[in-house]
Amino acid sequence: MNNPLLSLFPVTAQVKDDRLFIAGQDIVGLVRRFGTPLYIFDEATLHSQCSAFRDEFASLYPRSRVLYAAKAFLGQGLARMIADERLGMDVVSGGELSLAHKAGFPPERIHFHGNNKGREELELALTLGVGRVVVDNFHELSLLEEIASRRIALQNILLRISPGVDPHTHSHTSTGVTDSKFGFLMDRAAEAVGLAMDSPHLHLVGLHFHLGSPIYDVEPYQEAIARVLAFATEMERKFNFELREFSPGGGFAVSYTVDRPAPPPSYYAQGIVSALRRGMGEGKSEEPWLIVEPGRSIVARAGVALYRVGTRKEIPGIRTYVSVDGGMGDNIRPALYDSAYQALVANKASQEHRETVTISGKFCESGDVLIRDIPLPPLSPGDIIAIPVSGAYSIPMSSNYNANPRPAVVLLTGQGPKLWRRREHYQDMAALEES
Ligand code: LLP
Repeated sequence: MNNPLLSLFPVTAQVKDDRLFIAGQDIVGLVRRFGTPLYIFDEATLHSQCSAFRDEFASLYPRSRVLYAAKAFLGQGLARMIADERLGMDVVSGGELSLAHKAGFPPERIHFHGNNKGREELELALTLGVGRVVVDNFHELSLLEEIASRRIALQNILLRISPGVDPHTHSHTSTGVTDSKFGFLMDRAAEAVGLAMDSPHLHLVGLHFHLGSPIYDVEPYQEAIARVLAFATEMERKFNFELREFSPGGGFAVSYTVDRPAPPPSYYAQGIVSALRRGMGEGKSEEPWLIVEPGRSIVARAGVALYRVGTRKEIPGIRTYVSVDGGMGDNIRPALYDSAYQALVANKASQEHRETVTISGKFCESGDVLIRDIPLPPLSPGDIIAIPVSGAYSIPMSSNYNANPRPAVVLLTGQGPKLWRRREHYQDMAALEES
């Protein structure tokens, strides 16, 4: 019961009689019913993460809004939960936008991001009535102005600034550094503010930046907040620009392994709010709205990946590979970023970790390794490996590599399991081809 690994699992996780239970469901029984690989999400954990971010920020700064960054995971069921939790949503493509729309997500609570939004995507965004377009560059500014000029209503926008601050995370996921494809460079941003303020069809309401993810310290946010607020003050003097909304993005870390705990939402809320108040200084008429965009930290812990053990290969004195029936097709993160995970054997949950194995996938690549050299109970074919903290950036980055079908996704509620997304079949892959 005191297995420290359980702290990585959803809040409802328990070990009983050597088995893992989540939301009261026996995981072994669940995979018998839904098959493997399987992704499960715990409803209680999703709710508690949404309210933790919403309440922590609101208690320190009432004019705050939390937008869920849908790229971490999106489905219609989740979109409805996010709407019920009174959160907004950050989308980065016409596809995410249309899924949110199909789920009935209120469009005015949606912010549309992206460094290369196409004409059709912008048209769709304005047709659906998204709340804010976060304009990334000069090309987009003029394209959006042209599209907006054919509409009656003014389109509210934010400008994405690249503040030139290093968040000390993987280079693939650092976005606010100077050498980045995202956002206006600080020294060109004044020109963008001038153009946006002159636009008859766009209404510039604020500024946004996003540094990268996952970010374990609040200092990079504070440094970037100071820079962007100083820029906003300069713009106020120059153009009479009023900063009504301010967004330092998302990127809050989560604990993937017990030896690298992530700070709680309150840590980020305190650090960001104090930097915002410091940067605003005294005498401002009205505080701007603060908009944060957590993605990973809302869904990561709620999700667990479940795999079935197949073959073992023992290489004496070197390593033992244990292969499972999923891998880089459903979770590319270890191969792409060297991301670390831990695991529990769902049907041997309290057994001693007596051997060290490498959990590899079934894809035809040597780099298809989910976890390297991890101590686990002795494994045999049919055992169920549960990898916690799998709710973010696994399914959304999944592929049909080797023509493997993608896993099913199941929500675990107090009332039982609910299929969120069915497993793909071989026919699904053939369905898009002209025969
Ligand atoms: N806002 C903006 C503008 C973003 O670009 C992102 C993430 C977020 C918010 C949410 O960041 P989060 O809170 O989820 O860390 N595939 C990578 C992560 C890429 C993140 C891209 N942008 C991974 O698996 O770690």
